[in-house]
Amino acid sequence: MAADGVLGVVLAGGLGTRLNPLTAVTNKHLLPVYDRPMIFYPVQTLVDAGIRDILLVTGGNNAGDFLRLLGNGRQFGLTHLDYVYQEGEGGIADALSLARYYASGKRLVVILGDNIIADDISPFVEQYRQQPRGAKILLKEVDDAQRFGVAELSGDRVVGIEEKPARPKSRYAVTGVYMYDARVFEIIDSLEPSARGELEITDVNNDYLRRGELTFDLLQGWWTDAGTFESLMRASYLAAQQRGWTPPPARG
Ligand code: G1P
Repeated sequence: MAADGVLGVVLAGGLGTRLNPLTAVTNKHLLPVYDRPMIFYPVQTLVDAGIRDILLVTGGNNAGDFLRLLGNGRQFGLTHLDYVYQEGEGGIADALSLARYYASGKRLVVILGDNIIADDISPFVEQYRQQPRGAKILLKEVDDAQRFGVAELSGDRVVGIEEKPARPKSRYAVTGVYMYDARVFEIIDSLEPSARGELEITDVNNDYLRRGELTFDLLQGWWTDAGTFESLMRASYLAAQQRGWTPPPARG
């Protein structure tokens, strides 16, 4: 089903410094994950959820390569694919603020360009469309929660989110899929940069939480980011397995 009235936003900025030297001459989101460029995965996740109108936010020296690779998005069946350029490294919420002029009141389904997800997110997008206002985040239970935003749950409610806590209060990582109403831009305007000098998406989510307007769902299948050497390798491995590849037995 087409998710009309929803703008998909893929955030593919940043310098990818954690992946140096792989990112010395290209953008992280253009690196291979198994048999395709990383950026194909989040775009496909949105397309599979019925989203046909996508904005890609990128930056750095290789922004033009996204246009060469994705063109007008026809290969994904998109109706619209727009591009905007993020100056510097202002963080995820700063990148999202650039979607303001494209959103024109629509709801947003935002995905980080390095998030690779097995699940079909259509049911979550559909539930969010039924939600009168606010935001929805998707969580996944992980073993290394300190690497992520971490949600503390009480029953069926999120009661707090901490960004990369040294001592996580739960195993629920906040994945890089976020659904927002048009108020997100006012919220971003009110943010102060964090200690790492970025506008944090966790602060946006905590703002919705304080208003009592944040819902969540749990991803059932595997999920990974791909911003470190280990997670990039894991992403390739999981994507390959999902397409039927089985690891060969070790020789020796
Ligand atoms: C970002 C967010 C974090 C989230 C993660 C998901 O972290 O800040 O809350 O859990 O994406 O991939 P980053 O990849 O920028 O370290």
